[in-house]
Order: sequence, then structure tokens, then C-alpha cells
Amino acid sequence: MSDYTKFIASVKQKTGIDLSLYKEAQMKRRLTSLYEKRGCNNFTEYFELIRNDRSMMDEFLDRMTINVSEFYRNSQRWDVLNKKILPQLLQKTKKLKCWSAACSTGEEPYSMAMVLSNHLPLREISISATDLDNGVLEKAKVGLYPERSLKEVPLDVKQKYFKQEGQFFQVTDEVKKTVVFKQHNLLDDAYGNDFDLIVCRNVMIYFTEEAKDQIYTNFAKALKPGGILFVGSTEQIFSPERYGLESEDTFFYKKI
Ligand SMILES: C[S@@+](CC[C@H](N)C(=O)[O-])C[C@H]1O[C@@H](n2cnc3c(N)ncnc32)[C@H](O)[C@@H]1O
Repeated sequence: MSDYTKFIASVKQKTGIDLSLYKEAQMKRRLTSLYEKRGCNNFTEYFELIRNDRSMMDEFLDRMTINVSEFYRNSQRWDVLNKKILPQLLQKTKKLKCWSAACSTGEEPYSMAMVLSNHLPLREISISATDLDNGVLEKAKVGLYPERSLKEVPLDVKQKYFKQEGQFFQVTDEVKKTVVFKQHNLLDDAYGNDFDLIVCRNVMIYFTEEAKDQIYTNFAKALKPGGILFVGSTEQIFSPERYGLESEDTFFYKKI
């Protein structure tokens, strides 16, 4: 068994996280540069380090996931959500069940709330937002962002839903109240059901084909018929009908 294969087994036993479902070359590269920085020569030594030191374990968990995010990421897609997808969904019900899966530091679910507020009062909006990494969820709950995270936010939205605090921008409480954050592992935990809208962007790129297949199957089951899955701008699904989905617009899939 290779050094990395043993590491995968030990990490799974200790944390429940299955690294074998992440693309190997990418993950190995990221973790090798991290263990070298910590003075280790191989994955076996590195596991001993993270096993015995909470801060090293947190650093490992932080590095194995890439947390980059921003508000209205690929803003043209958010325009399609606003102008085409939401009006369609809202024809059927005014109470949308929404999920931002792998939400990182919160920019995505807060963007969802801001776009939804073009159609509904904020007090009627409720979004569930999840991520594997507890560290990013804590930041998401605080809701404080550097200006570069807001570069695609329309000016009127920026004025309405953010308060400038020095170099940073604070999401208003009324927006924060619409989102409930919770830890969730897409590779292991149960998915809910009856969702009208699931947004899952810029995480599938890290997974193996086998893992993606399982996740799309689970998302399709978690959606209502007519519900929408919104994916990242490099994450087009080939043959969506395999999962009982059909293309509704570029990067939007509807449950048949
Ligand atoms: C690049 S961020 C994407 C953030 C946001 N969705 C966006 O598009 O801007 C990827 C996120 O996926 C999360 N992630 C990685 N593996 C995961 C898993 N197995 N289950 C849930 N979230 C995971 C990471 O913690 C990270 O916050």
C-alpha cells in the first residue's frame, strides 16, 4: 500500500472524510507542499503530526478544501437566475425551499437571498447553507467581507445590503437572518428533499467521476419535480438525463 493510500485510510478513520473521492494528483500536490512546510518527509509522518495536534488538523482540513468564493460569482448566471429561473419557480409556490451546498464563507447563500429579495420580502426567504469545513461556516455567520469579494455586486444591492466598516463590508442583519448554516459532507451525509432550488458551484471540479456521479444522483433525488440545480461555470453536466435532469439554461438543470 502506498504512503498516500495509507494516509487516506487513516484520515478516513479519524475524520470520516474520504480523500479517495477527490482527484488524486491535485490533492496530493496541495498536501505535499503543506507537509513539507511542516517539516515532514512523507504522508506517514504527516498523519502522526495532524493526529496529535488540533491546530495542525485544522490546517490540514482547511488546505484540503479550497474556499475561494465571491458574491454574484459569474454575474451573468445570477441574472439568468433572477430574470428567468426564479419567476418560473415562483409561479408554482411563493415558499421556495433553497439550499446552497458547499457554501464556503457565505457569499453564495447571501447572494441567493439578495437575488430572491427582488421577488419576495426578505422575511419570507429561508436558505439552508452547508459546507464540510466548520471554519468557513463560522466566517460565513459573521458575514464580513473585503471589498474584492463584492466586485460583481450591483451598486444598488451593495448600498442596500452592506454596511461599510473600514476596509470591510458587513452583510446586513436582515439578509443574515434568511440563511441557516450547517455542517454537511456531500460525500457522506443525507441530503434533504423537496428542494425548489439547489445551488452547488465550484466544488464538483475537485471530485472523481465516481463521486460526481453519486452527488448528482443525490441532488436529483433531493429536488422536487420542476426544481432547479444551478452549477458552476466550468461544471456543465454531460447527459443530464442520466440523473433525471434536463438543461433549462446554461448551467441550470431542471428535475424532470
Ligand atoms: C471553491 S469553494 C466554492 C464556494 C462557492 N460555492 C462558490 O462557488 O463560490 C468549495 C467549497 O467546497 C467545500 N467542500 C469540499 N469538499 C466538500 C464536501 N465533501 N462536502 C461539502 N463541502 C465540501 C469546501 O470546504 C469549500 O468551501
